[in-house]
Amino acid sequence: MKKLIIILLVLCSSSAIAAGGGIPLQSATIDLGNKASLQRGAKYFVNYCLSCHSAKQLRYSRMGEDLAISPELVELNLMFTGEKIFDGMTIAMRAKDAEKWFGVNPPDLSLTARSRGADWLYTYLKSFYIDESRPFGVNNALFPSVGMPHVLADLQGLQRAVYKDVESDDGTVRTVIDKLVIAEPGRMNEKEFDAAMNDLVNFMTYMGEPAKMERERLGGKVLFFIFIMLIIFYFLKKEYWKDIH
Ligand code: HEC
Repeated sequence: MKKLIIILLVLCSSSAIAAGGGIPLQSATIDLGNKASLQRGAKYFVNYCLSCHSAKQLRYSRMGEDLAISPELVELNLMFTGEKIFDGMTIAMRAKDAEKWFGVNPPDLSLTARSRGADWLYTYLKSFYIDESRPFGVNNALFPSVGMPHVLADLQGLQRAVYKDVESDDGTVRTVIDKLVIAEPGRMNEKEFDAAMNDLVNFMTYMGEPAKMERERLGGKVLFFIFIMLIIFYFLKKEYWKDIH
């Protein structure tokens, strides 16, 4: 019974988090077989996210192998913080400084695509808008009062919120965000930015996977080993019992 209550509590709290800012989620197209998309996503991730967030569970060497990027190119294009290729993706920023600068510690993103879901991430990355009342001048429609600045503003530009009034069942009227529109264009148009964010989310989904892929590979090897042993034992048994019958 106690277990059941705990499970229910966990389910409720995670759906509460998922509900977040209450704007509808947009769907990302996840295709872990699309190496070109994963490579572009990796580039965005190391250039725009890795300065604050780590992804400790992913080793550079592993990423190179999975994404078909040679170790030389990984070192040249994707490693900036002086790590070795067999290291996980760590950052140089100290937790104490991060807290001083942002009020919160930017979380490790290794498993975020799994915990939040790809659509949540995709929508989150596209939902920053101008809000002068916030410390960095931006807020997020999906994650209100987020402590993260709009680090992709040079690509996306800046969005402005358009509001609407909605009446709830009890007759009270609330003002909510209707949509976000570009107020200052960035280097990419809307379509290009959507595609870039899709690549980034695709990569982050991959990031949560290697451990699983490793487990599956190992599982296959173990089964193969058991199968071979079975054949050997079968013939051994036949050999031993041959003279007894
Ligand atoms: C300048 C530092 C900085 C950079 C760069 C940055 N972030 Fe953040 N990010 C933060 C901080 C701080 C938080 C914590 C926000 C909070 O909890 O209020 C955060 C939170 C998040 C969250 C929410 C995590 C959760 O589950 O609560 C996600 C997802 C995220 N960042 C993704 C990204 C991605 C993807 C990039 C690269 C495009 C990126 N961030 C770049 C500082 C940064």
